[in-house]
Amino acid sequence: MKAAFIRQTGAPSVIEFGELPTPKPRPNEVLVKVGAVAVNPIDTYIRAGAVSMINHFPYILGCDLAGTVEQVGTEVKRFKVGDRVWGSNQGLFGRQGTFAEYASVDERWLYATPAKMTDAAAAAGALVGLTAHLGLFLHANLKPGEVVFVNGGAGGVGSAVVQLAKAAGAFVATTGGNDESLALCKQLGADMAVNYRDANLDDQLRAFSIPHGGVHLWFETLREPTMDRTISLMAPRGRLVLMAGRAARPEFPVGPFYVKDLRLIGFAMFNGTPEEQRAAADKLNTLHEFGRWNPLIGKTLPLSEAIAAHQLQEDNTIGKQGTLRGKIVLVP
Ligand SMILES: NC(=O)c1ccc[n+]([C@@H]2O[C@H](COP(=O)([O-])OP(=O)(O)OC[C@H]3O[C@@H](n4cnc5c(N)ncnc54)[C@H](OP(=O)(O)O)[C@@H]3O)[C@@H](O)[C@H]2O)c1
Repeated sequence: MKAAFIRQTGAPSVIEFGELPTPKPRPNEVLVKVGAVAVNPIDTYIRAGAVSMINHFPYILGCDLAGTVEQVGTEVKRFKVGDRVWGSNQGLFGRQGTFAEYASVDERWLYATPAKMTDAAAAAGALVGLTAHLGLFLHANLKPGEVVFVNGGAGGVGSAVVQLAKAAGAFVATTGGNDESLALCKQLGADMAVNYRDANLDDQLRAFSIPHGGVHLWFETLREPTMDRTISLMAPRGRLVLMAGRAARPEFPVGPFYVKDLRLIGFAMFNGTPEEQRAAADKLNTLHEFGRWNPLIGKTLPLSEAIAAHQLQEDNTIGKQGTLRGKIVLVP
């Protein structure tokens, strides 16, 4: 089968596109004929060697996939040949990645694809949808009527947080880096979308949130959180979710934090158990059927252009180039 893989960590140019053996499903695995995969920042950290997840070379990149069941292992119970499926959590902890024509995936990490959802949309929404859902509901217990703030509402995670929070009855405020991003944020359902370079951002956020008591849930997608600023905007007993910036070592304003009874929550989606992730996936599928969850695709490329895809992801997530809105999807 054709696959995008690496034999060593490094710059995007270490990615090779070529032939590797098609995997054979173990008893608990499903062989998926891949229809689409999506790129995530973590794929680029793993490729670069910044996050250590590789236990063998050649290593196939990629966490997310959507496609059709080609073959099932002897112990697989939930799927049969021909079913459409999506999933994430591959390419982590030694599992095979998804950037290939076929991927053999433990059935616990796969979910049925809704009939009206394309493989491209299902792949695009996989890791970011699960992340947003786990963060908002499992970890931060979002309630209707609360104010949610998320940076980068046209980004991968941000666009999922905006849609899921809005669907849950929250008041949603977000930021974007240019008019195109801000228009998209509004289209996704944000009640307030402001340019993050706007000097009056905090005043606008205050004016928006104070009538509701302040920001109840701050979902921080930035790799450099600004704690002092954030804490000053929070409602008493608000929850601050941190989920990015492995190298960040910000100053922490202890006094302003505790006198407001605030909660600080950290999480990584890949720590979610298969049961927690499946519960989130089921909710995402239902939301899609009701038109409340539509993953944002910014760019579609053939899998053979995995180098360009990684470069584009890195230029935006690390380089803050502002040239990508939503997800990069690759098609084998
Ligand atoms: N903990 C977890 O489980 C988990 C899961 C997924 C991702 N992550 C991490 O979360 C982070 C975001 O991931 P992603 O996939 O959403 O990345 P992404 O698609 O690259 O989105 C980044 C967003 O940040 C916005 N942005 C850039 N500079 C900003 C600034 N100064 N202020 C406010 N917003 C700014 C961008 O807006 P414009 O494009 O409009 O400029 C863009 O929307 C990454 O660091 C990733 O590693 C963690």
